[in-house]
Amino acid sequence: MTKKDRVTREGEKIRNRIFNRNKAEGGVTIETVGVQGSGKTSLDLHLAEITRRKYPKELIFYRDSIESPVQFNRVDNWQIYAEEGATLKFRDYDTNKYFDLPVITFKDFNDLYRKAKFKTINVVYFKKEYTWIDFLNYLRRHMHRGSGWKTVILEEYEDIAPQYAGGKRWRKNLLYSKNAKNIRKGLVNTFANTQSKGDVSHFIRSKLMMRSYLRGSKVDDVSPIEQRFIDKLKIGEAAIDYGSNFGKITFNPYPPKDPIFEVEKIVVIDEKEREEEIKDAKIRTLDKKISRLEEVLEKLNVV
Ligand SMILES: Nc1ncnc2c1ncn2[C@@H]1O[C@H](COP(=O)(O)OP(=O)(O)O)[C@@H](O)[C@H]1O
Ligand SMILES: [Mg+2]
Repeated sequence: MTKKDRVTREGEKIRNRIFNRNKAEGGVTIETVGVQGSGKTSLDLHLAEITRRKYPKELIFYRDSIESPVQFNRVDNWQIYAEEGATLKFRDYDTNKYFDLPVITFKDFNDLYRKAKFKTINVVYFKKEYTWIDFLNYLRRHMHRGSGWKTVILEEYEDIAPQYAGGKRWRKNLLYSKNAKNIRKGLVNTFANTQSKGDVSHFIRSKLMMRSYLRGSKVDDVSPIEQRFIDKLKIGEAAIDYGSNFGKITFNPYPPKDPIFEVEKIVVIDEKEREEEIKDAKIRTLDKKISRLEEVLEKLNVV
């Protein structure tokens, strides 16, 4: 049997695991890394489309990036939700004008969970991005709707779980990391993607169950996948690892659709919170600079 057969076969096994809904085994956590344009969003939407077709009684939640074109409208049948206290504005990139879309507001997780619809990409905007971490913990303990299973898609998840985090954010990362295993047991699947894995909290990355690499990405040392295998990938192919196994899976394109627009999220926060946010942001930029500097020094063989 050729090598290609083997990776395709292994890929099928991994794909079956992703779509298997066995309560004893729990859900899967997958991280997808790839440069811009490599297909990260397409892959995650592809998995979401299969999920809702196969499992119409499963809730799907979607976290989109902010201040850049939305991704969720590449598929049909979505609904936007905003936490009370967050105002959303939709700005068209062509006309630069604001336009309206229906938004369902929710008070808390219970309210959101009750309002979320089946067979729908439930696009959620929390006041704070890191609330997603608390929501994941909530989801693992709440199974009273539909089949009890849920899928959470996190676009550009470095915003939720940043590597360079101080104070409250750092504690949130720790919580995410501690609960990563339980999230899985709680019948929750998470598909998270990033183009710069160095910006994602390392505690969290290391706890994920599967990693998928797209064309142009650099493989992690811990992965059983060899770099030259990734270098040969075409667009629409992903190399995915699961423990010591790996395989190849394919996915469909989900190209951007008109209108191209972004969501502006307006949140009123109090003075104390604002100070904390600013302090946090400063720490993150400083840490980032230090680590880039270290990389340069290492390349120059100074250290
Ligand atoms: N399986 C595929 N086959 C053909 N084209 C694809 C495929 N996946 C993605 N593309 C195209 O590549 C472009 C970038 O894909 P996208 O999912 O936005 O990547 P990323 O999220 O990594 O930036 C899109 O225009 C998309 O249509
Ligand atoms: Mg993308």
